[in-house]
Amino acid sequence: MGKKKIKRIAVLTSGGDAPGMNAAIRAVTRTAIHEKISVFGVRQGYAGLISGDFIPLGPRDVGGIIHQGGTLLRSARCPEFKTEAGRNKAFEALQAHQIDAAIIIGGNGSQIGAYALSQLGFPVVGIASTIDNDLVGSEITIGVDTAMNIVLEAIDRLKTTAASHKRAFLVEVMGRDCGYLALVSGISGGAEVIAIPEVPCHPEDIAAELKAAYERGKSHGIGVIAEGAKFKAVDIAAYFREHHERIGFELRVTSLGHVQRGGAPGVFDRFLATRFGVAAVEALVHGEKNVLVGLLKGKISKTPLSEVITAKKPLDTDLLKMAHILSR
Ligand code: ADP
Ligand code: F6P
Repeated sequence: MGKKKIKRIAVLTSGGDAPGMNAAIRAVTRTAIHEKISVFGVRQGYAGLISGDFIPLGPRDVGGIIHQGGTLLRSARCPEFKTEAGRNKAFEALQAHQIDAAIIIGGNGSQIGAYALSQLGFPVVGIASTIDNDLVGSEITIGVDTAMNIVLEAIDRLKTTAASHKRAFLVEVMGRDCGYLALVSGISGGAEVIAIPEVPCHPEDIAAELKAAYERGKSHGIGVIAEGAKFKAVDIAAYFREHHERIGFELRVTSLGHVQRGGAPGVFDRFLATRFGVAAVEALVHGEKNVLVGLLKGKISKTPLSEVITAKKPLDTDLLKMAHILSR
């Protein structure tokens, strides 16, 4: 029994956008066309799959986007796709357009959706893309590096104003369930304290670290707080509003928000997204399906979606100890 030749594929971006998604769309489109496969872009993630919002993509349609942030195809969170009825509609739309396989560029939730589509008998290949870096099957995902550089620039800038006023700043960064962004950018930015969802941290712990830094004579204190940490930056600040002597420094909060997801991807994300896009099409050409294209041990890897969606990515929480030592 020979493998079915893929003639038409769909590509979509889903969930939180990530810098580099466009580079992945470009690589998918041009590689597929090189392989004589027609490409259809699906607008607004799974919502476009359900409504049948498909556009043909040619090499020129993906020109001039490699350096752009966001996603040409737009993205969405689509609750309807979580229902069986929604997924059946999507399946019918794919069949109506005679699509043989779909490439799903997105994070954890999006890959759960991809797996659910594969369970209807529709071949899919996922591409690991989220600034959260919470996907099993890829040690790094598209967008993380650019987002961390944005966080780092913000920390560097905040340090100069903090030092001028002998203040501490709590910098809130993204990361719903995963502290990777906070941990790596906190260490690289020389933060005095880092709070992540994986390790419970009380406001008193943060105050103690900042107070110790104050007493060591530091002119500034930086606390990097993941949005998913047990206590949010604003709550910690409110807790100490009346008692800033317990911190030493005067306290301010900066929430970086969506600025972390915007703007042009750096070289790392453009190259990673390009390699992932090429690998996803090649996987389909070679008859592989229902896998996530990612990076493991520095090499392009393919992990069954069934494994990706059932495990939680471990975070090296020992890095917190390292951050503590280095901030002395
Ligand atoms: P991300 O992919 O960035 O983690 P979300 O978690 O919001 O973003 O997921 C993106 C989309 O993936 C959701 O809006 C939904 O359409 C789809 N999705 C998420 N979880 C499921 C699920 N359990 N079943 C089917 N589709 C899902
Ligand atoms: O999943 C990526 C992410 O940026 C998370 O870090 C954050 O919690 C969430 O998306 C924000 O979602 P929205 O863009 O819908 O506000």
